[in-house]
This record gives sequence, structure tokens and C-alpha cells, in this order.
Amino acid sequence: MAEFRLPANSIVKPGKTHQAKADVNNIKKFRVYRYDPDSGENPSVDTYEVDMDTCGPMVLDALLKIKDEMDSTLSLRRSCREGICGSCAMNIDGSNTLACTKAIDDIDGDVNVYPLPHQPIIKDLVSDLSNFYAQYSSVEPWMKTDTATPPDQERLQSVEDRKKLDGLYECILCACCSTSCPSYWWNGDRYLGPAALLNAYRWIIDSRDEATGERLDQLEDPFKLYRCHTIMNCTSACPKGLNPAQAIGEIKKLMVERRV
Ligand code: SF4
Ligand code: SF4
Ligand code: FES
Repeated sequence: MAEFRLPANSIVKPGKTHQAKADVNNIKKFRVYRYDPDSGENPSVDTYEVDMDTCGPMVLDALLKIKDEMDSTLSLRRSCREGICGSCAMNIDGSNTLACTKAIDDIDGDVNVYPLPHQPIIKDLVSDLSNFYAQYSSVEPWMKTDTATPPDQERLQSVEDRKKLDGLYECILCACCSTSCPSYWWNGDRYLGPAALLNAYRWIIDSRDEATGERLDQLEDPFKLYRCHTIMNCTSACPKGLNPAQAIGEIKKLMVERRV
């Protein structure tokens, strides 16, 4: 997986060290970004010495152990703890991923844990994804039709057409891809980013949807779509193995095809 570091966009100072108890022998250090915008203080990185003999296997297990046993002030999001809800996305060991599916054993040395890069911070590992969700909403991710619904059956789709949605419908909106994209870092207010575009494509190629032209019109914009420069960070970052860069390429192809 391609690595990228959190840009130094603020002064991050060394923070507190939370030591393990004296009788703990199997220690792993977690260096965790701490920031409370309301405090007026600069961010810091706190160090937690975690007892690995009593810790679960995933980074999320360690973070919850830290919160439960060492420092209840640490803030993070999580829900499903099995890679389904997308809420525990963060930057671990230099890459955006899900804390609940990232094995601690896969990380050599200390574990660096930061929030998703280039998003405003609400507190600690909780970033503000309001813009990300608004962009998702802007692609109108639902089926749009003009024709009347068949009276006696649902709108049918062939097996081949259904297969076109594979690799798209599985998106869990974790934002790992968009927040790893340099174009999104610099133009996130106007470039929709890989997650919203992958979801736009999911509806563009759905054979049951009847708003394809309208959807492509919405994306025909120098920023919304064309700020993608095929750097591929998004695809490397996706914890579900999806390929947003390919979906964006397919939208660009459709744009060309409808011009000729
Ligand atoms: S391929 Fe496009 S969307 Fe993906 S990281 Fe590169 S610029 Fe961003
Ligand atoms: S495409 Fe992958 S990385 Fe991007 S939001 Fe969806 S699941 Fe997350
Ligand atoms: S807690 Fe749901 S994806 Fe990690």
C-alpha cells in the first residue's frame, strides 16, 4: 500500500506519556494525535504504553483499551468493529485505513495514529466530514426514473447489468480514499473527490436509472471531476479493495463518448 504522511499543517508537540504498570512485560507504544480546538492549545502526540498480553489484535482494540483503562479523554469514532460502518477510518502508520481491521502485528515498532488528513478536527481522531457527506449527497445517490413503475413487478435488471455494480456498491463511505487524494487536499471545496465520484458512477451505470445524461451534465465541470490527475492514492487507500480511480476514468470516458 502506498504510504503518505500527514502534512505538517500545524505545530504538533510531544505530549504526555502514559506508562504501563511496572509488572507489564509485553508493551507496544501507541503515539496518538491529540487536539481539542476549544482548548486554544496546539495539537500534541501522546504516548500510551499498552499491555499487549491483555489487548485484542486490532488497532481499534488498543485505542478502546487506552480509552477504557488509561485515558478516558481520548476521542474516536467506531461502531461495527468489523469493517462495515466506515466510522473508525483514521491514519495509522502513515496510511489511511480502518482501525478495526488493521492488525497491530502488521506494524513494526511504535504505532502512529492520526486523524484522516486535511479535514477539520472536532477532537483528537474525530474529523469533521460534513463537506465529504455534502459532496456525496450532491451526486444524488439514489435511483431516478421518469417512466412509471411496472404495476406487477419491480424494475428488473439483467445479471450482466447487475454485475456492473460490483466494486461500486460496496463503498462504506469511510473517506479513506478522498482524504488520501492530493487533488482533494488542495481543492476539496470544489473537487468532489474519489468517494463521491465512485458513487456517482455507481448510479450512472445502473441500467435502471433514467437520469444518466443529467448526472453527466452535473459532473461536466473543470473542478468537480477533472481535478483527478490519476495519482491513484485513492485506490491504494481503499480498505474495501475498491478502485475509485478506475470509476473516475470510466466517467471521463463517458464524457468523451457523448461528445463524439
Ligand atoms: S486517482 Fe484521482 S481521485 Fe484518486 S488519488 Fe489520484 S487524483 Fe485523487
Ligand atoms: S471507495 Fe473505499 S476508501 Fe473510498 S469511501 Fe468508499 S470504501 Fe472508503
Ligand atoms: S468500526 Fe465500523 S468500520 Fe471500523
